[in-house]
Amino acid sequence: MSNVAIIGAGYVGLTTAACLAHIGHNVTCADIDENKISRLNDGEIPIHEARLPELVQEGLSNQLLKFVVGAKRAITASEFVFLCLPTPQGEDGRADIGAVIDVVEEIRQLVLPQTIIINKSTVPIGTIAAIETAIQREDVSVVSNPEFLREGVAVTDFLQPDRIVIGATSNEAGERVAALYDSIDAPIVAVDPASAETIKYATNSFLATKVSFVNGLAAVCEAVGADIEAVTRGLGSDQRIGSRFLQPGPGWGGSCFPKDMQALVRIATEAGYEFDLLRAVIEANDQQFDRIVHKTELLLGENLSGKNLTLLGLTFKAHTDDLRNSPALEVAKRLATKGAKLIAYDPMVNSPAEIGDDIRLAANIEEAMTGSEIALILTEWPEFTRANWSKLMGLMNTPCVVDARNVLDRKSMVELGYRYDDLGRV
Ligand code: UDX
Repeated sequence: MSNVAIIGAGYVGLTTAACLAHIGHNVTCADIDENKISRLNDGEIPIHEARLPELVQEGLSNQLLKFVVGAKRAITASEFVFLCLPTPQGEDGRADIGAVIDVVEEIRQLVLPQTIIINKSTVPIGTIAAIETAIQREDVSVVSNPEFLREGVAVTDFLQPDRIVIGATSNEAGERVAALYDSIDAPIVAVDPASAETIKYATNSFLATKVSFVNGLAAVCEAVGADIEAVTRGLGSDQRIGSRFLQPGPGWGGSCFPKDMQALVRIATEAGYEFDLLRAVIEANDQQFDRIVHKTELLLGENLSGKNLTLLGLTFKAHTDDLRNSPALEVAKRLATKGAKLIAYDPMVNSPAEIGDDIRLAANIEEAMTGSEIALILTEWPEFTRANWSKLMGLMNTPCVVDARNVLDRKSMVELGYRYDDLGRV
């Protein structure tokens, strides 16, 4: 067991704190938000993450997990200090590491001798070196340990990772950090800090590229009469490609892919390499939003002005309540500029304030579908697959569906009498 401090109680910090306590470490998690800390100490979880409530409760009960306000109070007895701080995209496309540097300044004189500061935030390549310089302490090491946690399944991704990346200049520091994860069955990828920081950007950028590739492939399938599900079955069976992240959709979004793609393009340019491939992927993703709008226009057979359109799903993917950079909201923006009247239903979105004035929020799918000219499925919530589409048809003015997540069965929908379109299926 080690004494660990986690600075930042967001998606990454909270998951890291609960999981490290779950595997037996003594964890103190700090945040500047007093209200959030008070709710966490009461076992209230401000984010939607499967298994997280149980793990937080377990840590509070066995006293291996506690929450405090402010970094200084978390580090008093810690051998390891994880930085899990927001690094939002700055105006210039680079990640803004202000929060990371502020915390480093706050704690650098206070951390115990031989402490290891472990950065989990996504930061520009070279930040670890900058932090080491800022700390100016020979007896404190700084290590990069990037996270690969998908929202909604972050606990599973933490406890059952494909690999644990540790970027350290000193082997001793790297080995001490690796030992924290001894009870997790996953290979350690031990590299230098800059390579660890690069692995993070490379992973997200490659995954985004893979998604945009399959979205483009779905368009080709439509044009040549192939079936994207058959094609991705064959494609994904190739061990060099793999079957995950080959699901067509309205485009990729979320708090990470867009930010990390822009950051890597920016980092590359500043380093003297124009990463045009990634620029093309970012452009292709933007075009995917337009493609969904175009399919909507084609299905309605006329312009969208004044038409009642239903959006099923607003979050950037299912099993999260996160709307940040949601493809659904990008598509909605484009539909609204064409004069469509938008009503939406999402099982995890219940505050109109979150979605702007262009969209009216319905309390359930039936309300959202009543009087609708067309429904767009933009998030793959299981509720939409399970819905009674025969009954829903009776509520609509015209039975049209654009299934931008390929979650419904094309044949059944057509047999019910819907004018139906999806992505790349025959
Ligand atoms: C991502 C990375 O997966 C994770 O490793 C990293 O730490 C944080 O960023 P997340 O942002 O939660 O995680 O979303 P992810 O599940 O990767 O999906 C990203 C976007 O791609 C979503 O909009 C999703 O709908 C889309 N997507 C994903 C597809 O359209 N098709 C797929 O097959 C997979």
